[in-house]
Amino acid sequence: MKKLISPSILSADFSKIGQEVKALENAGADYIHIDVMDGHFVPNITIGPLVVDAVKKITDIPLDVHLMIENPDLYIDAFAKAGSDILTVHAEAGYHLHRTLQAVKDKGIKAAVSLNPATSLNVLDHILEDVDTILIMTVNPGFGGQKFIRPMLQKIKDLKSKIEKAGLDIAIEVDGGIVLENIKEASDAGADIFVSGSGILNTPDYGKTISAMKKIIG
Ligand code: DX5
Ligand code: ZN
Repeated sequence: MKKLISPSILSADFSKIGQEVKALENAGADYIHIDVMDGHFVPNITIGPLVVDAVKKITDIPLDVHLMIENPDLYIDAFAKAGSDILTVHAEAGYHLHRTLQAVKDKGIKAAVSLNPATSLNVLDHILEDVDTILIMTVNPGFGGQKFIRPMLQKIKDLKSKIEKAGLDIAIEVDGGIVLENIKEASDAGADIFVSGSGILNTPDYGKTISAMKKIIG
């Protein structure tokens, strides 16, 4: 599986979000990661479908939309219509994960499920065949710029072997505290898609950072 970089615009300058997305596009981003937070599931409020729609209009790069919201079922339609290419829901955020994932797939877009650091991989046992991507949170969701939680490396390895045992083709995405200095460890553990917010947007040259990351992950 080709390894991909998904810069998170959470660390962008929101007064010029269009320019920031264009800069990431020119810098070689494979996806644009958009963090949607509702102030309930996580203690922060960010972006809604209006912004996803606006970003969609200015770029052809696939949008990787990470819903950190309670009751995601209520908003799947809006985020699909806004132009999400991958829609990620948290296993902890709703009551009927299987139903939620089916609802995403019914929209004809990629369905992903995310697990908080403390959530066991066991919750995936009965829905593995229903997901395209599994996002392992490597920080507690809510804010950019937090420190990578190292025991998550083992979780990524365990997930990799679980997917291999099942003989499925599921991408492993990692999100939180990914920087140039630790991307190799996450990649060696088995990650395929690397979200990085501050690790890219807080550096002076996005292109240089993304190229360096790609060189490391191969
Ligand atoms: C955290 C978000 C992340 C965040 C990553 O709740 O899901 O996508 O933007 O930011 P960094 O890379 O700075 O940890
Ligand atoms: Zn995210």
